[in-house]
Amino acid sequence: MADRDAPVGFFDSGLGGISVLREARKLLPNEDFIYFGDSANAPYGTKSPERITELSEAVVRRLLAMGAKAVVVACNTATGEAVDTLRERYPNVPVIGTEPAIKPAALAFPGGRILVMATPQCLASRRVRELAARYESEAELVLLPCPGLMEFVERGELSGRALRSHLDSLLAPVLVRPFDAVVLGCTHYPFLRGAIAELTDSAAIIDGNLGISRQLKKRLDEAGLRSVSEHPGTVEIINSSADPALLERSRMLLAL
Ligand code: DGL
Repeated sequence: MADRDAPVGFFDSGLGGISVLREARKLLPNEDFIYFGDSANAPYGTKSPERITELSEAVVRRLLAMGAKAVVVACNTATGEAVDTLRERYPNVPVIGTEPAIKPAALAFPGGRILVMATPQCLASRRVRELAARYESEAELVLLPCPGLMEFVERGELSGRALRSHLDSLLAPVLVRPFDAVVLGCTHYPFLRGAIAELTDSAAIIDGNLGISRQLKKRLDEAGLRSVSEHPGTVEIINSSADPALLERSRMLLAL
């Protein structure tokens, strides 16, 4: 059984989960974190549920072998397909998932028109289909699969013409009427917030990162696992890709 001094493990298919880690560090400044980006296997969002589960299990095994006391699945796609399996396999480890912030968006904009941007497989997962079904009577939900979008963040391209034209082609069919809110249902997308906001006018842009971080804090407290250290926590970043540029980019994104 891990103790309070052990690190919290985070993972994502690549660099996206760093948008969650940034928020978690603000809320839990004395915790140590290990961040595992599975960029060698990215994207997850166009893979089969079986493959996503297999990859997620392998990463979690590794984080636990490194002594993680809790695991944040900082990936909506991996949560959608694998979180139930992970919780079954590790019943004594707090496993915190990530899901598109459909609930807060629908509650904030009752009767509004809400765009949910996420990966194809995230939107196809049973968990996310059920989540959307629970709120479709509260607001008009437009679910938009965004293949190819996370790759811009992996390449460190957070602005520019190619990104703009990719976003244009994804959004054109749904921008026939304005949106009240846009849900960033993939942890890579908060890094593209500026580029997305340029195309969606005055729509509120919502991500679930603060909610996930609060959930992490609550679960650590409940399990008696919150660090009591008075020193600033550390972040160790690991990536499955051998490309050193990804580690450098990860640190840059964490500092944004
Ligand atoms: N960051 C992941 C998510 O939140 C998805 C990116 C991918 O397709 O791997 O869904």
